[in-house]
Amino acid sequence: MTVYDAIGGAPSVQAAVDDFYARLLGDPALTHFFAEVDLSKLKAHQRAFLAAALGGSEIYQGRDMAAAHAGLAIADADFDAVVAHLVDTLAGLGVPQELIGEIGGKLLPLRAQIVTAPAEQPVV
Ligand code: HEM
Repeated sequence: MTVYDAIGGAPSVQAAVDDFYARLLGDPALTHFFAEVDLSKLKAHQRAFLAAALGGSEIYQGRDMAAAHAGLAIADADFDAVVAHLVDTLAGLGVPQELIGEIGGKLLPLRAQIVTAPAEQPVV
């Protein structure tokens, strides 16, 4: 059984995507990233991506992660905030901590492709 099946398949992923985006858009530190994006398109891509990341049968066919996020100047802190919202979403849906850790483990390696802002340098 894949993680995808364990959390309830496509309907759970749909619920997770909806809740996840509500959290991202409700976070004042993150809204500017998503304000200009066609949300229905973004949700469809995100749903397909998450399903594939969770080991479901849907194959993600969008642009690769580096291309999708190039030019957005995403910092480590932004990546951490987005992952934290996803963890909250999954916890809110009743996904067991152990599974959440497994899902996080699949997404964290994407940091290198998604984060493009230089690390914060000390002022002095
Ligand atoms: C594990 C982390 C992440 C995953 C799995 C992910 C996944 C995706 C996917 C599948 C797309 C659609 C790609 C396409 O158009 O084909 C996308 C687009 C996008 N993502 Fe992410 N993302 C992640 C992190 C982030 C972070 C940290 C931010 C900003 C703080 C972000 C902002 C965006 C934006 C603004 C777009 C739309 C780009 C555009 O079409 O202009 N993503 N992401």
